[in-house]
Amino acid sequence: MSKRILVLPGDGIGPEIVDEAIKVLATLRDEFGLDVDLDEALVGGGAYDAVGHPLPDATLELAQEADAVLLGAVGGPKWEPLDIAVRPEKGLLGLRSELGLFANLRPAILYPQLADASTLKAEVVSGLDIMIVRELTGGIYFGQPRGVRTLDSGEREGFNTLVYRESEIERIVRVAMAIAGKRDGRVCSVDKANVLECTELWREVAVRVGSENPQVELSHMYVDNAAMQLVREPKQFDVMVTTNMFGDILSDCAAMLTGSIGMLPSASLDENGKGMYEPIHGSAPDIAGQGVANPLATILSVAMLLRYSFDESGLADRVEQAVNRVLDDGLRTADILSAGTREVGTVEMGDAVVTALRAD
Ligand code: IPM
Ligand code: MG
Repeated sequence: MSKRILVLPGDGIGPEIVDEAIKVLATLRDEFGLDVDLDEALVGGGAYDAVGHPLPDATLELAQEADAVLLGAVGGPKWEPLDIAVRPEKGLLGLRSELGLFANLRPAILYPQLADASTLKAEVVSGLDIMIVRELTGGIYFGQPRGVRTLDSGEREGFNTLVYRESEIERIVRVAMAIAGKRDGRVCSVDKANVLECTELWREVAVRVGSENPQVELSHMYVDNAAMQLVREPKQFDVMVTTNMFGDILSDCAAMLTGSIGMLPSASLDENGKGMYEPIHGSAPDIAGQGVANPLATILSVAMLLRYSFDESGLADRVEQAVNRVLDDGLRTADILSAGTREVGTVEMGDAVVTALRAD
């Protein structure tokens, strides 16, 4: 039976970059035997405009039925004045939570062809290959109670709750251990155990899961130090595992080490390997509609989809090789342009990847 992918282009540059990823999927289907059906639906600001909610029921149902979801990006200034409950970002958070996508994998890889793009010295980042494993359906993002209340004094007070059950910590640390087992065998668990009870428990559970996986070397780091180490000596890390909010922050930091946030894909997985795949950059409203956005992170998200949800690592390798070849050929979108390379737009970049796929 063919596999079903739900495509959610979303807002801003989302539709442009997703179009290029669809070209790649169509090529794999027509010429490389990938048995796949694509559906498309609304999410984010566009969905709010159409039906008054960033995650329409119809979209959620399709996502639940699909074998994998490919998402572009959501959000933009147009929707910022909206109530937080119906902002585009809620569409994304709702998908993560409703689909149980607790494991967010965010690789930060420096492509050797792009070594000049980093703001850090080449020797600090060359060969960089970190995998950040971010817990995605718990922690302060979802903890109750939350809100803004008015005190007796009349002053308002905002509050959110950082909460993790042992089982939630266990399952994400296990994911990190399994991934490390296929890489360099090292996991660094990031917490703030010196201040927050919740992450003291996080560390305790991480140690327990670590002792079940003696083949993996487990270390611990406070989040403030981890942020510093990421810019000081990032190559010390193999896999990092952390809470939802710390992972949000550290993954942006790690992405920038590569100098090219337009290059980085991500996977958000449930217990059974079903996943949602998206570039880690946002909707970039400032360049939307201009045909200059970099589609490579979305195309590389297709590679992750093939590898993690469809068990098609051969095809995933092909897609990654095609991206490498296009970079070798000197093609660059504006965000990764450097001396001696040739600037291309979104569509030309997508076409070049398809051509490279066929040439393999
Ligand atoms: C991310 C984003 C989201 C997050 C926003 C858009 C809700 O920053 O995926 O990192 O905070 O998780
Ligand atoms: Mg973020």
